[in-house]
Amino acid sequence: MVKEIEKWWDEASKWFQEEIKIPTHTVHWGIHAPYEKELKLLGNVKGKRILELGCGGGQNSIALAKKGAICTGIDISIEQLKFAKKLAEKEKVKVKFIKGNFQNLSRFKQCSFDIAISAWSFQYSPNLKKLFKEVYRVLKRNGLFVFGYPNPYHDIINVKTFKIEMSYFKIGRYEEIEIWPDGSKHKFVRYQVKISDIYNNLVDAGFFVERIIEPLSLKDKSFEKYYPTKLSKLIGPTIIFKARKI
Ligand SMILES: C[S@@+](CC[C@H](N)C(=O)[O-])C[C@H]1O[C@@H](n2cnc3c(N)ncnc32)[C@H](O)[C@@H]1O
Repeated sequence: MVKEIEKWWDEASKWFQEEIKIPTHTVHWGIHAPYEKELKLLGNVKGKRILELGCGGGQNSIALAKKGAICTGIDISIEQLKFAKKLAEKEKVKVKFIKGNFQNLSRFKQCSFDIAISAWSFQYSPNLKKLFKEVYRVLKRNGLFVFGYPNPYHDIINVKTFKIEMSYFKIGRYEEIEIWPDGSKHKFVRYQVKISDIYNNLVDAGFFVERIIEPLSLKDKSFEKYYPTKLSKLIGPTIIFKARKI
């Protein structure tokens, strides 16, 4: 299961990083969401140990390292990590990038991070319950867990017709065979959940959910092809959860 996702990201990384320009001066939480410099969800990160799950090209960890955080990024895709390592070198910051599956954080001791973050990666988790329990384990007491998630209501709408194309209640594995502009075929896999699944799994793992944020910022146009502004004005593509280990 993870292999299919890993393969898709290894193949997609080059065009994704060329096409989508993710900043390295602040944390981005997801498509058409304001940046951390506006939302201020993490507070002062200087000296904080931060784990980024599904770090992709590493931009968020790099932005946090620039602010004095001690960052570790984990991602399943070697191509994404190659990009991340080069970018950190170019930006002259130190981040520990690790190839691994965020479903299994056994390499990290319990209570080893002050903060865990993620942006648009948990839609690839087949088991949010297990993932959130693991994040709870590796966080210190009072540790923050903040992540941006593709809004499940947005995901059921066809971005061309704006019509609802699948039931909100159809949760679980979703797969699609994509044909890219060069004619090559790629299997895309993700998992559909309900908003209540995200919330309830956080609570079941032991977290206190401080905020659920449904933001909208239309400044970044780089996703326009996939997430048209016109649709985002009707329903935002990103939902952010801020939770705390209690
Ligand atoms: C949409 S990208 C987001 C990357 C980065 N957070 C960003 O905002 O640019 C999703 C990332 O999740 C990673 N990913 C998917 N499933 C994963 C898993 N089970 N463990 C670790 N990383 C995973 C992919 O390789 C990809 O880099």
